[in-house]
Amino acid sequence: MIHRLVYYSRNRLTDGPLTAWIIKDILSASRANNARVGVTGALMFNAGCFAQVLEGPQQAVEETFERIQQDERHGDVSLLDFGPVGEPAFETWSMGYVGGSESGRTRFAGIAGESGFNPSNFTGDRLFETLHRLALEEEEAALAA
Ligand SMILES: Cc1cc2nc3c(=O)[nH]c(=O)nc-3n(C[C@H](O)[C@H](O)[C@H](O)COP(=O)(O)O)c2cc1C
Repeated sequence: MIHRLVYYSRNRLTDGPLTAWIIKDILSASRANNARVGVTGALMFNAGCFAQVLEGPQQAVEETFERIQQDERHGDVSLLDFGPVGEPAFETWSMGYVGGSESGRTRFAGIAGESGFNPSNFTGDRLFETLHRLALEEEEAALAA
C-alpha cells in the first residue's frame, strides 16, 4: 500500500550562490535514490524552509525520511502527516522541484506567512495540496513551452 509523508523543515543554507548548487545536489541524489526504491514526491524550497511530500511503499518512505532527517542542511524537521493513501499524487515525479517559479514563491510565502512561520500551524493537507497544485502548474508550463 502506498504511504504519503508530509514534512516541513527550516533550511540551514545561507543565501548565496552556493544555494543553487546545494539544491541541485539534493535533487540529483533524491531522484537517483527515490527512483531505485519506488518513492515519488515534490520538494519546495523557499522563505527559509523546505516542505516535502514523499510517497511510496511504507518501508521505502520511512527509510528515505530517516536519512533526510539526519541531513544537516536543514533542521527542526516537523512531520505533519504519514499514512496510507489510495493512490499516489506525484507518480511521474521521482522528486519534483516546485520552488523555482514566481507563482510557487508567491504561494509558498503565502502559506508560510499565514502560519506565522511556525511549522506546527501548517497542516499536512494544506502543504500537500499546495505542492500538488504547484507541481501540476509547473508541468503544464513545461508542456506549453
Ligand atoms: C530538504 C531535503 C530533502 C531531501 N530529499 C531526499 C529524498 O527525497 N530522497 C533522498 O534519497 N534523499 C533526500 N535528501 C538527501 C538525503 O538527506 C541524503 O543526503 C541522501 O539521500 C544521501 O544519498 P547518497 O547516499 O546517495 O549520497 C534530502 C535532503 C534534504 C536536505
